[in-house]
Amino acid sequence: MVRELKTKRLATRAVHAGERTRPNGFVPMSTPIYSSATFLYDHLADIDAISAGDRRGFTYSRHGNPTNAALEEAVASLEGGGIAASLASGMSAILLALLAAGTEQGTTIAASQDLYGVTVKFLMDVAARWGARIEFVDVLNPAKRNEIWALKPAVLLLESLTNPLLRVPDLPALVAEAHAHHARVIVDNTFATPLLLRPLEHGADFVVHSATKYFGGHGDLTGGILVAQEDYAEEVRNFTRLVGANLGPFEAWLTLRGLKTLPLRFARHCENAQRLADWLAKHPKVEHVFYPGLANHPDHLRARQLFGGVGAGGVLSVKIRGAGRGEIFRFVDSLELFLKATSLGDVQSLVLYPAISSHRDLSPKQRERLGITENLIRLSAGVEDVEDLIADLEKGLEQI
Ligand SMILES: Cc1ncc(COP(=O)(O)O)c(C=O)c1O
Repeated sequence: MVRELKTKRLATRAVHAGERTRPNGFVPMSTPIYSSATFLYDHLADIDAISAGDRRGFTYSRHGNPTNAALEEAVASLEGGGIAASLASGMSAILLALLAAGTEQGTTIAASQDLYGVTVKFLMDVAARWGARIEFVDVLNPAKRNEIWALKPAVLLLESLTNPLLRVPDLPALVAEAHAHHARVIVDNTFATPLLLRPLEHGADFVVHSATKYFGGHGDLTGGILVAQEDYAEEVRNFTRLVGANLGPFEAWLTLRGLKTLPLRFARHCENAQRLADWLAKHPKVEHVFYPGLANHPDHLRARQLFGGVGAGGVLSVKIRGAGRGEIFRFVDSLELFLKATSLGDVQSLVLYPAISSHRDLSPKQRERLGITENLIRLSAGVEDVEDLIADLEKGLEQI
């Protein structure tokens, strides 16, 4: 520490003046943004003790940062996990989960065929490069589950609420079978959030989130979170430090702020999505609505049971009767409140056309096989007044 600043020259004072004052008996109500790469102590022995893991503390932000730590503690509390790591994006959370789960050269990753398109591309272009064998499996059909275990996977990777058809796998059964076959389970819980489902409580080993979505909730950050059972604390800490895909403290602060209203926002997202689904299902220009809150959804009962009656999420997908690209473009362009954004989970309502965005890289045949047809659009219900959202969709449907 610089003790006698008054005696120092101007260039020295420019660097040190005003810095490192210690809090004098107050505690900030909101965790501040600790925008600092390093953290200082009076004695080198303190840094030694922290680095050895004998004392809790912070030395270097890639190893840990107080703002991020507050966020990690909050998410671990919501997901019921032992350890959480805040990362630069949902994709880096998936990378870290795969590393911490022990995938390596020669191990098999059984990946649900209903994964976010970029996760699929990540598995093929990155995980395959480190020598993991990638097998896409059907986690929805109980009759096909034996085929998964016959692959002897080290890891099963799936989404708890899939994109864009909102399927709900039988997570408790999959976890029990995976563990019986010595496989670890990673669940992408981005769409469900811990409000609907806490996979770790069902025995899953890892949970990942794109914090860019509901956790942040306002479309103003990119972030990811990995949560793991306590048994994996060492692996999570180790790989987080080595990979260095840390979330910046400002984004950590925004996410922590977002979490405070997550239950309120998510209740409204679910309520609005259910109202939109009910209304659209009756519209003559709508061929089909995919939403687990509707009785005709194949996973309606499972969603009700697994999600504890809280709701069925904030995302729904809709097939517009007889529409081709021209009609879909006209419909989407005429919407005023549903913003054309390739994301979900924001307070603003959003609309996405999977054929040209999330599933663009697939061939028309592959899309068709996954049920992603040319007339399918995905809606993320925001928190606006639902009557205005319905009026917006009504106006849009009049254009086609
Ligand atoms: C289900 C799911 N997982 C992971 C991701 C990746 O998250 P990010 O864009 O924050 O890297 C996304 C992004 O859309 C997603 O929808």
